[in-house]
Amino acid sequence: MADVAKTRAPGADALHERAHEDPMPLHGIHHVELWVGNAAQAAHFYTSALGFTEIAYAGLETGVRDRVSHVLAQGRIRLVLTGALGADSEIAEHHRRHGDGIRDIALSVPDVQHAWDYALAHGAEGVSAPHELRDPDGTVRLATIAAYGDTRHTFVEHADHTGPFLPGYAARDVGADAPEPLVLAIDHIVGNVELGRMNDWVGFYERVFGMTEMLHFSDEAISTEYSALMSKVVTDGRGRVKFPINEPAEGRRKSQIDEFLEFYDGPGAQHIALATRDIVGCVAELRGRGVEFLTIPPSYYDELPGRVGEIDESLEDLRAQGILVDRDDEGYMLQIFTKPVGDRPTMFFEIIERHGARSFGEGNFKALFEAIEREQDRRGNL
Ligand code: FE2
Repeated sequence: MADVAKTRAPGADALHERAHEDPMPLHGIHHVELWVGNAAQAAHFYTSALGFTEIAYAGLETGVRDRVSHVLAQGRIRLVLTGALGADSEIAEHHRRHGDGIRDIALSVPDVQHAWDYALAHGAEGVSAPHELRDPDGTVRLATIAAYGDTRHTFVEHADHTGPFLPGYAARDVGADAPEPLVLAIDHIVGNVELGRMNDWVGFYERVFGMTEMLHFSDEAISTEYSALMSKVVTDGRGRVKFPINEPAEGRRKSQIDEFLEFYDGPGAQHIALATRDIVGCVAELRGRGVEFLTIPPSYYDELPGRVGEIDESLEDLRAQGILVDRDDEGYMLQIFTKPVGDRPTMFFEIIERHGARSFGEGNFKALFEAIEREQDRRGNL
């Protein structure tokens, strides 16, 4: 080994160092853009029900002729709701096919040109080559690649831009007292892909983004007799971006992933998990604002203390709000899922609060279905 070190060329140590650096550094999720059928009304739901604040806008009034975009903020989360202004728009076509859905999971990167070069060199399909957008607030560099289905990843590099969002967006007057955020950051975004394609897309994120597989749950781990799925999670070097990828598995009935694929007409992003530090208060507030959540059978809570052990929250609060709990080797987590937020049974949100746990609530699949079966049993129907 010493000989190898001696024969290194000058500068080899630096090269060696770089080889261990993250090949595709990501600062995190910059924003998520949804293409929707009615951006004006969607923006009303996202602000009045989900607690977002509109911070920027682009449309006819700002010189954009083909689309309208509302930029919503809460904590570090940025969502863009975009609708079409004409029948020939690709947004209208996207909505015709998919309904409301996630078009772009944009990633903040230190160097757009590098991200683009690296992604294309590792097999990504380029959609929009690196280019600059400029306005009086400065410059932003962007490039876009294709992901599963019609989903895109835009790389965003804020060179020196100080505006409310991207160049071309007009600031909305937020007012002096912006409300306390209910949710603070995006924890993960789940993609649903076709049967047999999960490993391909895990490989895509490993090659193109230098991500690594974080956890692997077998078919058995999260299947029930009624709804089975397989899931793998990829994450970037710093653990800032987490993308679980699901594919359907054979069950007695159609799986929830099959239902998504049918109604979304192909692969797409299934849910965005939003992190909070007070899930009980957050969910109570969201319920009060009219957000609907999946109903949890009361019997789910019968087995909870035995399954997850000691937790800080009161069982009564969790039962009252329908919040789920799961535990892994590193701690526990609390989560709840909204009903789909659009017309189709496709995209929804998760609210999540982590207490050390790094998993995604897989233990809840089995616990939930067992709870449903216990209720069936009580009715003499099992
Ligand atoms: Fe999730």
